Amino acid sequence: MCGIVGYVGQRDCVEFLVQGLRRLEYRGYDSSGLAVLSTPVQMTVVKAAGRIDQMVKRLTTQPARGSTGIAHTRWATHGPATDENAHPHLGGNSTVAVCHNGVIENFRPLRERLEALGYRFRSATDTEVIAHLIANQLEKELADRATLDSATLDSTADQAESDLVDIEPYVEAVRATLPLLRGTYGLAVVFPAVPDLIIAAKLGSPLVVGVGEHEHFLASDASPLVGRVNKIVDIDDHEMVILRPDSLRVITRDHGDRTADVRTLDLQATDVDKAGFEHFMLKEIHEQPETLRNTMRGRLSLEDATAHFGGLNLTPNQLRSVRRIVLTGCGTSWHAGLVGEYLIEEFARIPVEVEYASELRYRNPPLDEGTLVFAITQSGETADTLAALREMKRMGHMTLAISNVVGSSIAKEAGGGIYLHAGPEIGVASTKAFTSQCVALSMLALYFGRMRHLSHAQGTRIIEHLQALPGHVEQALKTDADVRRIAAKYADCRTFLYLGRQFNFPTALEGALKLKEISYLHAEGYPAAEMKHGPIALVDEQTPSVFLVPHGAVFDKVMSNMEEIKARGGPVIAITCEGGSRAADLADDVIVIPTVEDFLQPIVSIIPLQLLAYHIAVLRGCDVDKPRNLAKSVTVE
Ligand code: AGP
Repeated sequence: MCGIVGYVGQRDCVEFLVQGLRRLEYRGYDSSGLAVLSTPVQMTVVKAAGRIDQMVKRLTTQPARGSTGIAHTRWATHGPATDENAHPHLGGNSTVAVCHNGVIENFRPLRERLEALGYRFRSATDTEVIAHLIANQLEKELADRATLDSATLDSTADQAESDLVDIEPYVEAVRATLPLLRGTYGLAVVFPAVPDLIIAAKLGSPLVVGVGEHEHFLASDASPLVGRVNKIVDIDDHEMVILRPDSLRVITRDHGDRTADVRTLDLQATDVDKAGFEHFMLKEIHEQPETLRNTMRGRLSLEDATAHFGGLNLTPNQLRSVRRIVLTGCGTSWHAGLVGEYLIEEFARIPVEVEYASELRYRNPPLDEGTLVFAITQSGETADTLAALREMKRMGHMTLAISNVVGSSIAKEAGGGIYLHAGPEIGVASTKAFTSQCVALSMLALYFGRMRHLSHAQGTRIIEHLQALPGHVEQALKTDADVRRIAAKYADCRTFLYLGRQFNFPTALEGALKLKEISYLHAEGYPAAEMKHGPIALVDEQTPSVFLVPHGAVFDKVMSNMEEIKARGGPVIAITCEGGSRAADLADDVIVIPTVEDFLQPIVSIIPLQLLAYHIAVLRGCDVDKPRNLAKSVTVE
């Protein structure tokens, strides 16, 4: 949800800013802009509504050059996608430029106050108040210092020293502004008067710093830094960072300066490019056999017939005391939670509740002692999930995270958990994160099951099935040509039903979500048997039903539901298993996937559904990786 990049160093920064924005475009893409500083005091600001290319086009007529700059790609919250609302925003008499990711909840009263003081607003955004507040504080700081200087009349001051700009008023101006803001922010701030300085601040929206030779980089996540630096510093909430070419200072709100902990960036260029695929989503779909192996790597022990996790950070006694598990998340991560509910209840016999994070936060559920809360999230930055986690923590529950992004806000806040190791997921529609989340939850169910009821032999069988899974996913990916043909047949339909039972009910929800978000078609996921209590009224010749009917405990039941749709003239696409299933005789179109144990079905049967959504979206001319109105990580509530 909005991406920020920044550079301060010796080189011209425009190429980095533009490339960095392209890497962050998945976070928001309705407008973009940059502010570049050069010496002597000059600031060039270029902004444009639309994709980054629009802004780049503008750079040909409004060239920008300089070795310090900040840039932004926007996902609108306040004010539509226009040139005026694009970031950076200028404060005061253009004494400061600000890029912001997050939401300022109290921007209205702040704006009224600033307008009363004579500040003129040029946009409808919440961000502009930050720029004017900093300008206002800066004016005060500079005035105070001017008074002090004239009072002390230090005529002995060395001339060379007095030529250096004292950055303290600028640091103080930002520091004094932050407590006035209610909401969330990742901020990048530059001042034309100090052309070798960026001040960044973070509360609730991610920011990282890249450390180079006589240069520093700033970004909302590490992807723009790949290929530029291999040393990065994470910024925590309530911290400010003062970046200059040769220095990096981290100031915490409560404890003054802290040492910057440098960690190694272990991403490769291939992790953040399309590697020959037409879209990131397609690349990520095809990566799944490998990403599943990575999620399981080193975590399954045939000797103990269980899973091992290095980062749960709970004592064996705490883990044994777990009486109830709450799984919370949003969107696809919530669907993975539903799969987890079936898995944990089946293997570990622990009652599980799955809650939308956005709802959990404002409820007051009577959770007993012994409740363990897992926040499930790909990005680790989803505002609703973070807020729910904090609320559960505040209530005294044990909290853990299942997250893909190492060092993300949710991973840190939870204090422990499981990393997916699925690599960066850039396509807005989540694919490989979902299957890795399901596998992580399967291993967790095994782990808790082995602590309670599962025998060594049962544990061993589960591990063997898990180890065979990447091969089955490879097989399922071979359905691509069939899926593409079926996609072409149905791409003009307006409504789709996705129907499955038990483990495949969440798969149906996830398949429908994929189609909705990237092809803008109406799709509903439903438990197959529940369909006759309402949604069956939607069925006609133009409304295909995608049935999940692999062999397993509920095969015959789902077959009956399929008959009910056929009897009403609805076309049926069946996702079923190899071996000439009866489903093939009844359905209009069939996609055959490998046979796996019931508990692993969601991970295999989601593959053709991801491909179906992808091909329909491509056929309809939709922008698969950047669907309209969406952003990859939703850092606003
Ligand atoms: C998935 O395709 C969606 N883009 C979205 O529902 C996503 O899963 C949701 O916003 C949660 O994100 P997270 O996993 O990063 O927390």
